[in-house]
Amino acid sequence: MNEPSEINRRAFLKAGLVVGAAFAVGRTSRAEVSKPVRLGIIGVGNRGMGQLRTLLLLPRAEIRAVCDLISERTTRAAQVVSERQGREPAMYSGTEEAWEKLVKREDLDAVVITTPPVWHAPMALAAMRVGKYPAVEVPAAQTLEDCWELVRTSEQTGIPCTMLENVCYFRNVMALLRMVGEGMFGELLHCEAGYQHDCRSLAFTPEGGLTWRGERATQANGNPYPTHAVGPAAQWMNINRGDRFVSLTSASTAAVGLREYAALKFGAEHSLARQRYLQGDLNTTILQTANGRTITLYYNTSSPRPYDLILRLQGTKGIYLGSTDSLSLETADKPAEKWEPFAPYQEKFEHPVWKKLAAEAVKSGGHGGAEYPMFYDFLHAVSQRTAAPQDVYDAAVWSAIVPLSCASVAKGGKLVKFPDFTRGRWQKRAPLAI
Ligand SMILES: NC(=O)c1ccc[n+]([C@@H]2O[C@H](COP(=O)([O-])OP(=O)(O)OC[C@H]3O[C@@H](n4cnc5c(N)ncnc54)[C@H](O)[C@@H]3O)[C@@H](O)[C@H]2O)c1
Repeated sequence: MNEPSEINRRAFLKAGLVVGAAFAVGRTSRAEVSKPVRLGIIGVGNRGMGQLRTLLLLPRAEIRAVCDLISERTTRAAQVVSERQGREPAMYSGTEEAWEKLVKREDLDAVVITTPPVWHAPMALAAMRVGKYPAVEVPAAQTLEDCWELVRTSEQTGIPCTMLENVCYFRNVMALLRMVGEGMFGELLHCEAGYQHDCRSLAFTPEGGLTWRGERATQANGNPYPTHAVGPAAQWMNINRGDRFVSLTSASTAAVGLREYAALKFGAEHSLARQRYLQGDLNTTILQTANGRTITLYYNTSSPRPYDLILRLQGTKGIYLGSTDSLSLETADKPAEKWEPFAPYQEKFEHPVWKKLAAEAVKSGGHGGAEYPMFYDFLHAVSQRTAAPQDVYDAAVWSAIVPLSCASVAKGGKLVKFPDFTRGRWQKRAPLAI
């Protein structure tokens, strides 16, 4: 590990406190926009290919290197890059360590990491240690030690670490961030959000084996995928910027869904239908904050159900509910008794990021185009050598819910304390600027 550099550390803290507190749009000159950011991408499976295609739409992104364990995937990604950029990127594949060579390339500014989650922290740490800005898929780490190591390494090297939490860039989520900032909901008290998405088919290979998602379900029981739910709520509540999580408690149901699904797909006698899955089908986690707020998180990927992130936000002046995309606000002449559609508020309180980028973003792909402004912010931050709005403390705090929820479930739902990854600085850090 690098020795701490006090200059880097101070520069980093300054960047985190001041520059990282703002979304990029509105402060970007033409010269800055045209400056290319040289990227390598590791892990070009489903998500990685999607992210690569979005990156190739951003004028500033220059893909110099691609890597995947599977050489056909590396070649496929390189072809897509060549077609778009007119130049073939360097290719790395074949072993689980081939990415180490990519990270060390001298001609890269940043590394996008879209591998299975166990690789996220080792790859992000290696990138920071050689001066490259990591943009890492969710969650950024699996253990508390890795969460701390991300924070320590980022502070010591002066290299920010961005987690690619795309739900924070959903159009409604960002308009709500603005509305919260303008006091429309009064004082926030509670949020409820969930990753509720039928992902049973993604746990198994067509040949009757387990994918990394299926393997994960045999190894732990908690909330393995909390960041889509907690990210927006944490930004609305200024977590790490005026408030912080102090504890959580977590409970899971029995694990039934994957076994039943495997029996239907492969037959009741198949080993996957008799497999012991540890991960309960529904996990419920309750977080408490220093300022007396609560967040309820759900994780449910093994049940037949429509996709729903809930995204409920309750303040002293009203409520928003993402499941129905509606809200109810109390005003001097009207109680909050009826739901109203959110659409007119979306238009009125559009976040500046979406005002500027909506045309390109909506054409760019999935999740309503959220990845486009997300990478726009990341590339801007790299070109300015500053932290993106989602910084290393967000990555550590949101990801820490993975091991902490498992610890609570293992103890029958016992309250577990939340580490303060900012070491007290949450009290002085400014809220995200709009
Ligand atoms: N933010 C979102 O909305 C979203 C959506 C889907 C997936 N994800 C995240 O993206 C990541 C990838 O998910 P996916 O669905 O694309 O999985 P996937 O299995 O389709 O792709 C992962 C790729 O990583 C490669 N890989 C594995 N180990 C590697 C190594 N050591 N070096 C290089 N390549 C390696 C695999 O060969 C594979 O091609 C996961 O962390 C997942 O949680 C996020």
